Amino acid sequence: MTDTKTYRIKSFGCQMNVYDGERMGELLGEKGMRAAKDGEDADLVVLNTCHIREKAAEKAYSDVGRLAKNEKKPMVALAGCVAQAEGGEAQRRSEHIDIVVGPQAYHRLPELVEQAAKGARPVDTDMPAISKFDAMPKRRRSGPSAFLTVAEGCDKFCTYCVVPYTRGTEISRPWSDIVDEALALVDGGAKEITLLGQNVSAWSGENEKGQQGGLELLVRRLARIDGLERIRYTTSHPADMDEGLIAAHGEEPKLMPYLHLPVQAGSDRILKAMNRHHTVDSYLKLIERFRAARPDLAISGDFIVGFPGETDAEFEETLQVVRDADYASAYSFKYSPRPGTPAADMDGQVAPQVMDERLQRLQALLSEQSLAFNRSKIGTQMDILIDRVGKREGQMIGKSPWLQSVFVATDADIGDILTVDIADALPNSLHGITSPKEAAA
Ligand code: SAH
Ligand code: SF4
Ligand code: F3S
Repeated sequence: MTDTKTYRIKSFGCQMNVYDGERMGELLGEKGMRAAKDGEDADLVVLNTCHIREKAAEKAYSDVGRLAKNEKKPMVALAGCVAQAEGGEAQRRSEHIDIVVGPQAYHRLPELVEQAAKGARPVDTDMPAISKFDAMPKRRRSGPSAFLTVAEGCDKFCTYCVVPYTRGTEISRPWSDIVDEALALVDGGAKEITLLGQNVSAWSGENEKGQQGGLELLVRRLARIDGLERIRYTTSHPADMDEGLIAAHGEEPKLMPYLHLPVQAGSDRILKAMNRHHTVDSYLKLIERFRAARPDLAISGDFIVGFPGETDAEFEETLQVVRDADYASAYSFKYSPRPGTPAADMDGQVAPQVMDERLQRLQALLSEQSLAFNRSKIGTQMDILIDRVGKREGQMIGKSPWLQSVFVATDADIGDILTVDIADALPNSLHGITSPKEAAA
């Protein structure tokens, strides 16, 4: 492909961007390019960006600025959600952006690179009817833990959120495409697959027997794949979870006991203003039903503090829902007004210092809960999926069923599933030992 031989892809934002980044790499690889090595300057840099909050979006431009100072003067492709939101405007803002390619158009990246090599500055933010997935090569190698996009886009239109605009309308990938991709991933070494969708619980489709169903049907099918040991899915919307999926959590051992179920806020008035389609009560009842099916299920969540009009008392309600739900982990953010979203024009925008103070209090409570959750595992035995090499000699790091990082001294390899005893817990990790306690004493 002309003189553009090496590439580097930097993905920001959510797991779907990580998935998209991998797929872009596979596409470029098929066209004869290779990934730049660590420390090597690439001919093409793809910034796979996130538009969710202002800071994330601004990062894209500061990265472009930094690349422009690079002696090699790489070709720069702006991809992801900032590319979709800004289109050609991005190139007016920065002369260093050679290509703009949206999240539904990146199967055309190789063509766009050819065009840019000839001096053009192509912009492709189409959301074409033909699925990008059909235009991509089959998946080959994979790490022990892989992402698989099953649904994309979102029709929920939470009033603060850009995703329905950057990712488009909700689309479920067809059953056979997903099953084939899962089989290819397992063939390539995956032991764990995380099914992705901005609203994954809205997935629907038809199996090979013509039976219609939701995520439950898909999960139960994937659970029959030999060699696939763990299944996860993210992100779920509390208004789209059905009985069948809840039941599957109790019946299907490969479905991991961890559920990311954002609530965003603890006041019904704010939830309504956010257009969330659920109440605090319906959310807490849903968690109860999940825990009844799978008592060791851990819940994680997302929170926004300082949504327009949020009062001190309403923020206190957010702290209360945290106490009631009891999270194993969570992400929390200050509200960031996003151009084009209804909330950006709402009255009662909250002052930054008020948001700072609320965020600190919320995060203190959430950290207490996650440390307590980690500590509750001390003295228990669990299986971990080894996925990284640790910094210390002989140390490996594995993932617990609850997504905790577990450090362990072992000669096991990446991809092995190992039974360990948990000896200690820190805020962000666990310490495991492989030998029976008697032998260690
Ligand atoms: N589809 C997922 C993820 C959306 S983005 C979901 O519905 O949960 C991830 C998180 O970013 C959201 O859950 C929300 O907590 C946060 N977020 C989205 N828009 C935001 C905004 N304008 N300001 C601050 N946080 C935001
Ligand atoms: Fe955004 Fe709401 Fe859709 Fe999640 S459900 S992607 S927060 S609009
Ligand atoms: Fe960000 Fe787009 Fe994901 S805005 S969170 S990269 S869907």
